[in-house]
Formats: sequence, C-alpha cells, structure tokens
Amino acid sequence: MPEAYERHLVPVFFRPFAADLAARAAALRPRTVLELAAGTGALTSALLIAVPTASVVASDLNEAMVTAGSVREPRADWRQADAQELPFEDGGFDLVLCQFGVMFFPDRPAAYAEVRRVLAPQGRFLFNSWGPLASHGFGAAFQTALEQSMPGSAPSFVKDVPHGYCDPAVVAADLTSAGLTLAAAEEVTLEGVAESAASVATGFLTGTPVSAALQDREDAQALRAAVTQRMTDRLGTGRVTAPMTATVYTAHK
Ligand SMILES: C[S@@+](CC[C@H](N)C(=O)[O-])C[C@H]1O[C@@H](n2cnc3c(N)ncnc32)[C@H](O)[C@@H]1O
Repeated sequence: MPEAYERHLVPVFFRPFAADLAARAAALRPRTVLELAAGTGALTSALLIAVPTASVVASDLNEAMVTAGSVREPRADWRQADAQELPFEDGGFDLVLCQFGVMFFPDRPAAYAEVRRVLAPQGRFLFNSWGPLASHGFGAAFQTALEQSMPGSAPSFVKDVPHGYCDPAVVAADLTSAGLTLAAAEEVTLEGVAESAASVATGFLTGTPVSAALQDREDAQALRAAVTQRMTDRLGTGRVTAPMTATVYTAHK
C-alpha cells in the first residue's frame, strides 16, 4: 500500500497541502518538531526544506509507512508510534504537526491529550483535515463511481474516514476536551493535478483500505475497471484537475 499511496496519491493530494503546512510551520520557527501519522513523509520533506535547522521526529502507526518514509526522507528520525500513546517525554517538542492523520485516530481526545503532554509550554499543534467529500473533486468522483459500480455494497471508507471529520465545531470540542485551545481554523482550497483520472482511481483502489474491501471478490478486476472508466467519463482523459478543500487548525496549551 505505501508504494501505491506514494505513487498515485501523494503527488496529487498530499504534496500541495504539505507545502501549505510547511510554510505555516516555518513561520513558527520551530527547533524541535514531532510529526504524527507522517505516512511516507510528504510533509516531512516539505518541512525539512522550509526549516532545514529543525530537529524532526516523524512517526506513524504503520510500520510499512515508517520503513518507506525513512528510506524516502532519511534526514528525519523515524519512529513507529500510535498517536494515542506517544513514546516521548513530556514537553519535548515546540511544534507537533499532523497532515491528514487525525481523521484516522479512533480516540481523538486521547491523541490530543498526548499532543498536549509532549508540547513545550509555548508549543503549537498544527494540523489539517479534509473538508466534506463534496468539496474534494477527486474523492467525490471516486465515491460516485464506486457507488454506481457496486450499487448497495460500495465501501464507504472515503466518505466516512478521510472526509468524516470535517466539522470545525467538533474538532474544537475534541481539542478543548484534551485541554488544548483552538487558536485558528482556516479553510484552504488547492487545485489537485493528476496525470489521468485512471491514475487517481488506481490510487484510491490500491493505496487506501478500499483495496482490502475489494480484494476477495471474484469480480474485483471488473469492478476496478468499471470505477476507472466512470472516473474517466466524469473527469475527462489526459491530465485532470480538481479542487480540494481542507481546514487547517492551530492549537496551543
Ligand atoms: C492519509 S495518511 C497521511 C500520511 C501523511 N501525513 C501524508 O500527508 O502523506 C494517514 C496516516 O495515518 C496513519 N495512522 C492511522 N492511525 C494512526 C494512529 N493511531 N497513530 C499514528 N498514525 C496513524 C496511517 O498509517 C497513515 O500513514
């Protein structure tokens, strides 16, 4: 999964927002940074370009992501870690960063309490989360194609998880319950550019948990072909673009 994620999804979805988050991080002039749910390191690399003097610990729950990330971005100190139970001492980081990871944490207040614990007194927690599915041109096209191809049995992962934590009031309440204060919540829309609709479809079908939902079906290959064709019909052939909206949050103790 890390290879498909890195090849098809990172350049289109994650690198544009990594540049945005890295620029915001650089403005805070951090010396010690902890990145949560770092995946294959899209933000890690952008951060190390924007703040080359920072000492960066990049962490992720998934060992395969940590391995892929440490090969891709060896300048960071990579650690396998569950955001809800961080293996770090109190107060050691002046910035905790997380790009499109909080939606995956089953107990977000627990993760935010851990962020609070490892933050230095004046530290900042900077993270982003996708907006509703309808505000992501590629995600919406994929989910529609999936539902048309699998009426009544389409996996709802994309709608429910990456795009299921998009209400800033809910995020603010979770932060407050962990003793953090929300300082800013800013909606950001960037344009995603992909080499083809088929490449984006391949990314969703092989680089996300949708892959596991299809793999045991006898008709998996036909379904993947149908979803790819429907996405191409909707988005067009050749290079395709679509708007992608997220909210960027800044919090502190
Ligand atoms: C959509 S990816 C984002 C990766 C990376 N931040 C990026 O921008 O490419 C979500 C990541 O969250 C990680 N993740 C899921 N649950 C986690 C948890 N409880 N603690 C830490 N990481 C987790 C996954 O392994 C995955 O790498």
